[in-house]
Amino acid sequence: MSKKYNVAIVGATGVVGKEIINILEQRNFPIQSLTLLASKRSAGQVISFNEKAVKVKVLEENSFKDIDFALFSAGSSISEKFAPIAAKSGAIAIDNTSFFRMQDDIPLIVPEVNGHAIKNHKGIIANPNCSTAQLVMALKPIHDAATIKRLVISTYQSVSGAGKDAILELENHSRYLLKGEDSEPKEFVKPIPFNVIPQIDNFVDNGYTKEEMKMINETNKILESEINITATAVRVPVFISHCESVNIQTEKELSTKKVRDILSTFPGVTVLDDPQKSTFPTARDSSGKDDVYVGRIRKDISQKNSIDCWIVADNLRKGAALNAVQIAEYMIANPSK
Ligand SMILES: NC(=O)c1ccc[n+]([C@@H]2O[C@H](COP(=O)([O-])OP(=O)(O)OC[C@H]3O[C@@H](n4cnc5c(N)ncnc54)[C@H](OP(=O)(O)O)[C@@H]3O)[C@@H](O)[C@H]2O)c1
Repeated sequence: MSKKYNVAIVGATGVVGKEIINILEQRNFPIQSLTLLASKRSAGQVISFNEKAVKVKVLEENSFKDIDFALFSAGSSISEKFAPIAAKSGAIAIDNTSFFRMQDDIPLIVPEVNGHAIKNHKGIIANPNCSTAQLVMALKPIHDAATIKRLVISTYQSVSGAGKDAILELENHSRYLLKGEDSEPKEFVKPIPFNVIPQIDNFVDNGYTKEEMKMINETNKILESEINITATAVRVPVFISHCESVNIQTEKELSTKKVRDILSTFPGVTVLDDPQKSTFPTARDSSGKDDVYVGRIRKDISQKNSIDCWIVADNLRKGAALNAVQIAEYMIANPSK
């Protein structure tokens, strides 16, 4: 009989944690036992997994005994403290937060792109920022074919990227606004209903936000590249899926046909690109799906060796939960790595 694994989810009651539970079930992950961990607030809550009721427990230092994989999505400070504890107890900690991503001795992994880098792990593996994961999926085959020199990125990011309270704020504040009532934003710096906000996370000294700098640094770490990248990250009043407008300048020239061909054969990427029929990916089309969708592929008429495209994916799936589960699956399939 093939081996089964003891899995713990830290932050099991959050939007990413809940999606991890769905994905483990949908992909028939070989589970021996599932431990669901969160704060005191959710202790005792019951969540269904494979038609069985699993009680949520409070995260504690001894939560990781006999755990094989611990999937973290409860915020950076929780990962900072508990991922090393999980690793010390013998688990592989797969972390969705930003805490370990840029540390030299921590692999930052999107399995289809740089699964080979997992072999350097010391018990903790980082999952990239949601907007980075979908971006590198589309960039990897283009970089391999023509070497990317520069990227200009604008994102249109859904509120679920900011967690369960942000989803509720969009829902409730939209309702209040339609009734003519004002409400003070809590999860965002400005009101989110019917708005577009060019700030995600705090600003840093160079005028970019932390979210923008995460995309820039994490993309080069995953692609093992030194691409010149500029990015503007924008929050939009959409529940699920991040969209990205990306201008890609390459060393070698690529025809749009070649770009479509290489993207179409890359695992986990689907090209949806027939503008005459208004065929292109949107946030709502991709929500609940696993693939990264690419459309609006065209030559940039202002510059040599450059293409524009539109990249869309479900931020809770490829941007977080799915990628984390795929890392565990990759390790099971490649035990020596
Ligand atoms: N949302 C995304 O698209 C996305 C993508 C990539 C990475 N991430 C990262 O994943 C993490 C979680 O994001 P999310 O969107 O799922 O947030 P969320 O919906 O707000 O959920 C947060 C989770 O963390 C738990 N938690 C909070 N404080 C805790 C504590 N002291 N001890 C134990 N558990 C605690 C919460 O449990 P309670 O229910 O008990 O409060 C909840 O399960 C963040 O670091 C985020 O940056 C998110």
